[in-house]
Amino acid sequence: MFSCYLSSIIIKWTSFTQFIFFFFLLFFTSPYDAVSPFSDKSTLLRLKYSISDPAGLLSSWNPSSPHCSWYAVRCDSNFRVVSLNITGDGARAHAHRSSTSTSLPCSDFGKFPLYGFGIRRSCVGVKGSLLGKFPSFIIDLTELRVLSLPFNGFEGLIPDEIWSMKKLEVLDLEGNFITGHLPFHIQGLKKLRLLNLGFNNILGVVPSVLSSLDSLEVLNLAANGLNGSVPAFVGKLRGVYLSFNQFSGVIPEEIGENCGKLEHLDLSGNSLIQAIPKSLGNCVRLRTLLLYSNLLEEGIPVEFGNLTSLEVLDVSRNTLSGSIPGALGNCKELSVVVLSNLFDPVGDSEFVTLNDELNYFEGSMPEEVVSLPKLRILWAPMVNLEGSFPRNWGACGNLEMVSLAQNFFTGEFPNRLGFCKKLHFLDLSSNNLTGELSKELHVPCMTLFDVSGNILSGSVPDFSNNVCPPFPSWNGNLFQTGDIASPYASYFSSKARERTLFASLGGVGLSVFHNFEQNNFTGIQSLPIALDRMEKSGYTLLLGENKLTGPFPTYLFEKCDGLDTLLLNDQFPLR
Ligand SMILES: *[C@@H]1O[C@H](CO)[C@@H](O)[C@H](O)[C@H]1NC(C)=O
Ligand SMILES: *[C@@H]1O[C@H](CO)[C@@H](O)[C@H](O)[C@H]1NC(C)=O
Ligand SMILES: *[C@@H]1O[C@H](CO)[C@@H](O)[C@H](O)[C@H]1NC(C)=O
Ligand SMILES: *[C@@H]1O[C@H](CO)[C@@H](O)[C@H](O)[C@H]1NC(C)=O
Ligand SMILES: *[C@@H]1O[C@H](CO)[C@@H](O)[C@H](O)[C@H]1NC(C)=O
Repeated sequence: MFSCYLSSIIIKWTSFTQFIFFFFLLFFTSPYDAVSPFSDKSTLLRLKYSISDPAGLLSSWNPSSPHCSWYAVRCDSNFRVVSLNITGDGARAHAHRSSTSTSLPCSDFGKFPLYGFGIRRSCVGVKGSLLGKFPSFIIDLTELRVLSLPFNGFEGLIPDEIWSMKKLEVLDLEGNFITGHLPFHIQGLKKLRLLNLGFNNILGVVPSVLSSLDSLEVLNLAANGLNGSVPAFVGKLRGVYLSFNQFSGVIPEEIGENCGKLEHLDLSGNSLIQAIPKSLGNCVRLRTLLLYSNLLEEGIPVEFGNLTSLEVLDVSRNTLSGSIPGALGNCKELSVVVLSNLFDPVGDSEFVTLNDELNYFEGSMPEEVVSLPKLRILWAPMVNLEGSFPRNWGACGNLEMVSLAQNFFTGEFPNRLGFCKKLHFLDLSSNNLTGELSKELHVPCMTLFDVSGNILSGSVPDFSNNVCPPFPSWNGNLFQTGDIASPYASYFSSKARERTLFASLGGVGLSVFHNFEQNNFTGIQSLPIALDRMEKSGYTLLLGENKLTGPFPTYLFEKCDGLDTLLLNDQFPLR
């Protein structure tokens, strides 16, 4: 047995380094390890010498020291390896592949800003990654429970034998270059809890045999080349990430028939058609439901009103219609509601998506939605909403960002928004709002305030509140904080900044954009920005196409070192 194994290894060994390594094994493997030279320690050394490790992540993997003390290795009391956990930064491996593969979410939050609720990690502190062929001999570590090698540069197929490993609980190869198909036969893996193969190059369908993984809780197959239909069994899991593939057909009704544990469901960036199944309303533990960038039709199911744990709902970039159900007002945990999105969240990647937002709702925005107690972000530009603008913003103490631009809202400007102390982004441009602005609004602290293209009148007031909270952070690496709305806040802020004039200002982290153009304003009483904001940020103030009268307000310039752009209009009498 021993000699047979030995000879098979010698036959495979060709390179000089591996020959040296063989000598190390013979002479330096101490009895202390209590394992034979050709068991776990040799498997690990074989891994070390079969791959490239430019950053020296495995430099502690020294043949003369006990393998259980090596970096990223954990053993049981018999010195058998139970966990191998090496997270790379992905950077080097993916840099020279960037033209052929999808970029990696771990080190590049910018490209997939809305991916990974509940599972996303950061690579902060990780330097370097391992490169080479996926080590199929890893299956010789028969006691392995955790095999976690995310964001490295492993390529090639996953060996079939891995699917019959008995003890594995975690298989995490996210962000590598794994190719091939998912298995059609699985004998083992009865204990597998997490299967994470996201951001690889796996093709074909998701075989139903995956449903035989009895202990599976989290399945991440996002950003591969998978096609066929969304498997119905995923409803029984806790976290399901199938975004950015080529899945087609309908969202199976069955997902909602046994989904009592489901917390995160992400089917975005596929080609899913027809109605959103009502049955999803049964998934009462759902915290995030992301369905954006598909071809879904008909309305938002009124049954969603039963999703009392839901925190993030994004149905943008589909072809939905119907009215927005007031029943969403029962979802008391809702903090991010995205009904449309004029930015393309997958537009920077190679994935094929529609170019334009096509949701087209009927009726108004229900008061029940705008008065949700935890609402932080409400995003519904250009979706045909009409009727009088919602007035009861309820307990808006958490509200941070609202875009209801380019709809057909009428009625008085919602001065009650002055009660929303955290509101820092308000885009109500291109509606038909009337009335005057209240001096209680927190415009001086807002990063974006756009009321252009309405019928507002009176004077832009001297806003009373000039003491601002700290500037909101734009950092995209906020998945760590447990603050589930942050990725959206960060994403919308940075996209909006790109779209307004901010991009031209040289990429400073802070900038402020206030647009009062195309109204019936007759004057401006002071510069509507807080002094400290003005000093720290670039500032754009647009006032054109109004009915400004009276002398030119030179006092506007007294304190305006930070002012980048000020557009008045021709009618303003200059003197
Ligand atoms: C792997 O190690 C990282 C820290 O290096 C840790 O955060 C993570 O939980 C570990 N993963 C597993 C599956 O043990
Ligand atoms: C799915 O992908 C495989 C592999 O890329 C391809 O051969 C097959 O034709 C695709 N099937 C469908 C229905 O698109
Ligand atoms: C919520 O679920 C209950 C059953 O638990 C059902 O009777 C009711 O119709 C559902 N409500 C909505 C709005 O779907
Ligand atoms: C605003 O009202 C005018 C006149 O009532 C109408 O012609 C116009 O279409 C409206 N615009 C919007 C965006 O609703
Ligand atoms: C805004 O100005 C237009 C053009 O002067 C005028 O017809 C309209 O009545 C004004 N609207 C309001 C609400 O003041």
